[in-house]
Amino acid sequence: MEVVVKETYEEMSRLAAQNIAELIRRRPRAVLGLATGSTPLGTYKELIRMHKEEGLDFSQVVTFNLDEYVGLPEDNDQSYHYFMWENLFKHINIVPANVHIPDGNALDIEEACVDYEVEIDDHGGIDIQLLGIGSNGHIAFNEPGSSLGSRTRIKTLDERTRKDNARFFPSINDVPKYCVTMGIGTILEAGKLILLANGANKADAIKAAVEGPLSASVPASAIQLHPDVTVIMEKAAATKLEREYLSEPHKLEL
Ligand code: F6R
Repeated sequence: MEVVVKETYEEMSRLAAQNIAELIRRRPRAVLGLATGSTPLGTYKELIRMHKEEGLDFSQVVTFNLDEYVGLPEDNDQSYHYFMWENLFKHINIVPANVHIPDGNALDIEEACVDYEVEIDDHGGIDIQLLGIGSNGHIAFNEPGSSLGSRTRIKTLDERTRKDNARFFPSINDVPKYCVTMGIGTILEAGKLILLANGANKADAIKAAVEGPLSASVPASAIQLHPDVTVIMEKAAATKLEREYLSEPHKLEL
């Protein structure tokens, strides 16, 4: 696992965007796994800048989002469909048919979850999966106690997650109770994982995920099982870590 601690949120975001842009330049048909929430906003801003100023081309890129609330219309400004179009897709040249976000309004959600997994496989799997981390240690909406082998499915949101996300809704009662989320097993099949974290409220979760024991009680600790993980943090999220980490990704100098 490579762990990189940056001074600022902007530096963290730039490094994540550079990793994604390198993949797209090398592999124009890259399959990206994307996250929502406040953490990746800077990364998306930087990718938009690279598209506008450097011609980063998304015309063949395929995306799969991690999760979506159940029962929120796609045009609700808190749905993850809305979030992704507002904060990334409408600003780049992605083909709408190449965008995949779990359907929280499907008539048969369980079937839609199975179909989502099949679609990921049909595209040859996810090349880079971008992840945030919940203050309770969740990744995607795999709340503490989620099976480390779980697949895309419906989950009940933790009260802590509903409280964390209440800041985006008129009140906590408006935060949906259920979501559809890729499973931890699904996430671990991506070619590379990039986990981002900023802010002091993530420090305990990061400590448990990076240095704690592997445990379903801290779903993000499952990244320890993956052979190619980069954790990029802004320094406030790193304050509880005990080992020393680099401020730049490791480069082989032969
Ligand atoms: C969102 C997601 C969640 C968030 C996490 C952190 O797609 O998968 O796991 O990454 O809740 O959210 P923020 O970034 O808002 O702190």
